[in-house]
Amino acid sequence: MGVVRQLRQIDADAAGVDIAFRADVHAGLAQQQKAFPARWFYDATGSALFEDITALPEYYPTRSETDLLARHAAAMASAIGAGRALIELGSGSSTKTPLLLDAIAPAAYVPVDISGDFLRDSALALARRFPGLPIYPVEADFTQRVELPREIVDQPKLGFFPGSTIGNMVARTAIDLLRNWRCALGEGSLLLIGIDRIKDVATLELAYDDPAGVTAAFNLNLLERINRELGGDIAVENFAHRAVWDEVHARIEMHLVAACDMDFTVDGRAYHMAAGETIHSENSHKYGPRDANLLLRASGWTPIATWDDADPAFALILAEATPFRSAP
Ligand code: TRP
Repeated sequence: MGVVRQLRQIDADAAGVDIAFRADVHAGLAQQQKAFPARWFYDATGSALFEDITALPEYYPTRSETDLLARHAAAMASAIGAGRALIELGSGSSTKTPLLLDAIAPAAYVPVDISGDFLRDSALALARRFPGLPIYPVEADFTQRVELPREIVDQPKLGFFPGSTIGNMVARTAIDLLRNWRCALGEGSLLLIGIDRIKDVATLELAYDDPAGVTAAFNLNLLERINRELGGDIAVENFAHRAVWDEVHARIEMHLVAACDMDFTVDGRAYHMAAGETIHSENSHKYGPRDANLLLRASGWTPIATWDDADPAFALILAEATPFRSAP
């Protein structure tokens, strides 16, 4: 079957720039604490840099999650069953997906990613490896409404949301997203979600601030992207990458720190930053076992199995969209 077709569900302007990117950048720069949503990291350059991050010795989540998939594939397959349509949110390079595809023999594969060219390349690579599998890539922002390919509408579904991407959202946004996807996938659907655990601060901070500076380059690419796509004149060399653990929110916060006072424009609009002021560019929330289960239950997903014996700790949780019940 191979790649059947790629659906594009992004609103772009005449120059091909995502309309929501422009709006989010101006809104984010106008705030008291400047901040951008994490999805704008992932242009083609950012997606490639993120691939480099996943290969870093300090960045354990990818290795821990891949290890869980490899060791528990058979148990996952028997809990999931064959013949479901597999919908992957934020599929990126789909490097972990073959482990799952091999184990569960799905009816179709729907990778959803915001980085269109990257998505195309990974879907083609996967199609070569799984020639009998229908693949329907969807270029879309999975935090927004995504229209699923009509071919899979009547098939039983498994959502796959790896990489602890759920941790990049604050709790209320995470719950909105999980509830929306529960509605989109339907009652009786399953969700296999990767969630990073709380652990010692040194391990956490190193994973988001590696000595080789790949994570710094990834963070700074956001500013380069603003210069490239929105005609900005930000002096990127005057910014530094910072990653710190916030114990209150149980999250790594990433910031872009201004090294000196500066003025710049984006789209011709003027902005000022004082020395030491930051742009909050990312959160990566970590969840203990009870936190993770509560997050899922609060969103209408009932956890039915957990695999979390990786080192450093990471969890893959299988949950089901069960009917609503107010009492046991
Ligand atoms: N979901 C990934 C995480 O929170 C994304 C990520 C990893 C990331 N490293 C990063 C995002 C560095 C920004 C910067 O672990």
